[in-house]
Amino acid sequence: MKRLFNPESVAIIGASRAAGKIGNSIICNMIASGYKGNIYPINKHGGEICNLPVYKSILDVEKDIDLATIVVPFKYVFDSVKACAQKKVKFLSIITSGFSEVGKTVEEQEIVKFANDHGMRILGPNIFGIYSASASMNATFGPADIKPGGVAIITQSGALGIAMIGKTQMENIGLASIVSVGNKSDLDESDLIEYMIKDDQTKVIFMYMEGVKNGERLISVLKKATRIKPIIVIKSGRSKRGAMAAASHTGSLAGADEVFSDIMKQCGVHRAHSIQQALDWCKYLTGSVAPRGENTVIITNGGGVGVLATDACEEHGIHLFDDIEVMRTAFSKSVPSFGSVGNPIDITGGASMDDYEKCIIDAFNHPSIHSIICLGCETSILNGKTLGPTIRKIHDNYHSIKPIVYSFVGGKDIENEMDYLKADGVPIYSDLEQAVGCLGISYENYRNQMVLKDDDSQNSSIDAIVDIKKINKIIGSAKKDKRNFLLADEGQELMKAAGVPMPKSVVVSSLKEAVSQSGNIGFPVVMKIVSKDILHKSDAGGVILDLKNKNEVIDAYEAILFNCKKYNPRAKIKGIEIAEMLKPGIETIIGGRYDNSFGPVIMFGQGGIYVEVIRDISFRSITYNRFEIAGMIKEMNTYPLLLGVRGESQKDMNGIIDVIIKVGIILSSCPEITDIEINPLLAYDEDDGVRAVDVRILIK
Ligand code: COA
Repeated sequence: MKRLFNPESVAIIGASRAAGKIGNSIICNMIASGYKGNIYPINKHGGEICNLPVYKSILDVEKDIDLATIVVPFKYVFDSVKACAQKKVKFLSIITSGFSEVGKTVEEQEIVKFANDHGMRILGPNIFGIYSASASMNATFGPADIKPGGVAIITQSGALGIAMIGKTQMENIGLASIVSVGNKSDLDESDLIEYMIKDDQTKVIFMYMEGVKNGERLISVLKKATRIKPIIVIKSGRSKRGAMAAASHTGSLAGADEVFSDIMKQCGVHRAHSIQQALDWCKYLTGSVAPRGENTVIITNGGGVGVLATDACEEHGIHLFDDIEVMRTAFSKSVPSFGSVGNPIDITGGASMDDYEKCIIDAFNHPSIHSIICLGCETSILNGKTLGPTIRKIHDNYHSIKPIVYSFVGGKDIENEMDYLKADGVPIYSDLEQAVGCLGISYENYRNQMVLKDDDSQNSSIDAIVDIKKINKIIGSAKKDKRNFLLADEGQELMKAAGVPMPKSVVVSSLKEAVSQSGNIGFPVVMKIVSKDILHKSDAGGVILDLKNKNEVIDAYEAILFNCKKYNPRAKIKGIEIAEMLKPGIETIIGGRYDNSFGPVIMFGQGGIYVEVIRDISFRSITYNRFEIAGMIKEMNTYPLLLGVRGESQKDMNGIIDVIIKVGIILSSCPEITDIEINPLLAYDEDDGVRAVDVRILIK
């Protein structure tokens, strides 16, 4: 990959003599960016382009070529690739459109196979090219002027990528690279990230994605990469169509976008919701030091903005330092007696920029304070003229010590001054939400690093005994029966084979057996019909709950058979299930399904019949460990119920985690299973464990 980002020589096949054509602008950009390697324009007509001699064929070039950019029309691309193979080129950047994006997938795959067989890797097709700051190489047909810096951009959208070059320029954001991946026929985000995390120039990686290909590999690359550098993603295409077609709760809850979001969170990737937000984060993370602790102070001359920032801090998970004694000592000299040393620190409307300076410097110098939010409202003494010099001086002297963000509210003079400061790299924003959001992302990244470090130590292998052979036997018999679902008793058997705790139960086929088995299980019991011809048992009158003694069992047995025969006279009845009547617990749901992008995915959330309405759920790829599963459980709004409320004790968290792990193992070891759902899984106090009440399993 180093050769792709730092090629010693680049050929442009389809270099055009006509100004304005793509094949011409790439040559112009290569020259304008100051690329030091050899540039070889290739055009069947020969001649000269931008004073460079043009070769009629790549085979006429004597020296080796690392990268060939192909900009010839679709029908000539394969021939060009073949010539590159003969020339032993290492990387191809295929700009040409008209491949899999318009249905020509076979043609695209043919080229990739040929290239790979000949030791070449392909970027594209259908891309605008690659810019790499370390090689001063702009091999794109985007804008000529790109500011070098620390942000690496990977973009699936060409047009948006080109627009982002201009936007980064406007925002004064320097790029380490920008790579267009287009159809991702060969090289994809994972390959590029693997390089970028090792590239010294890259400080932050920003991806614009439309779809995920090879998601399982992407997860593994992202998990490693976010331990080293922050990664920001924007993804479009929030489709619910796939979810609508799905058959289970888990399926209908697993909107593609929710799964994507949760898996990015699992990998430690920050998901932005707009280009502006992503670029703000990129700029802040490249230009600012990382926090070394959680204590933030707000310094303001106005109560209103202080309160707004306090709200925003809560939203962005920023901890406001609240040791009033320490604050009092730290700011005793810089906050006037009529001000407030609480947090927000209010230096009052009479504060000049000199007062700000003293207070900010006190915050920078105090070891218990780790980051600063500096806010202000325009006054007669805090204005456009006084703002700039002080903030510039503080920025120059202190910005590498602790993270700080600034936001000031005022008129034209203040706004203009903030624009100048911004251009000089000061993290100053007219919108305080933006300012707090940037500090928030810095904290998210800081915590990611801490959690991921902890996570490594927790990465012990997950041990669970699941009898896969037995599970496959159960699936095999359902398939023989030409069913794509398991019956309730098969589902229970399968759960037992995985060691998932179920209510005690047995299927009986006579009244005598029913009486004796209900005694063995212990009253009260539940009785349910078992028949593959009666799926909706309650509708058929096939379920009776809370049977307290033998007489009630006898009555229920006869009533169930009578009801079910009436409901479906032709139903084949396998027997009646007698099960332990469970006491109430916290209802949770565990679902597992095969996601087309990410492979086996697990869902956990609040269970019961209202799961779709309440939607208190989260997803993870099964590449997790116990620590990540605990994180998924904590994400639920109803997590406090599991911790125990109103004097109740904590529920069996380890029991829940064990079941999640087992469902994941079943899903990944039995490819015939498409969906598993336990709803509810009742969670009891730690001593009583968990019980899977109802299990639904769908097979291919
Ligand atoms: N070897 C060398 N040169 C060749 C060639 C070959 N096999 N075939 C053609 N050429 C030359 C042509 O003579 C021409 O040079 P000239 O202008 O000096 O005559 C140049 O290569 C380009 O060929 P041309 O036929 O003029 O194509 P074009 O420039 O109109 O279009 C593409 C070529 C690749 C730009 C076009 O097919 C395409 O795919 N456009 C979309 C690109 C895009 O949007 N990508 C995604 C961006 S995000």
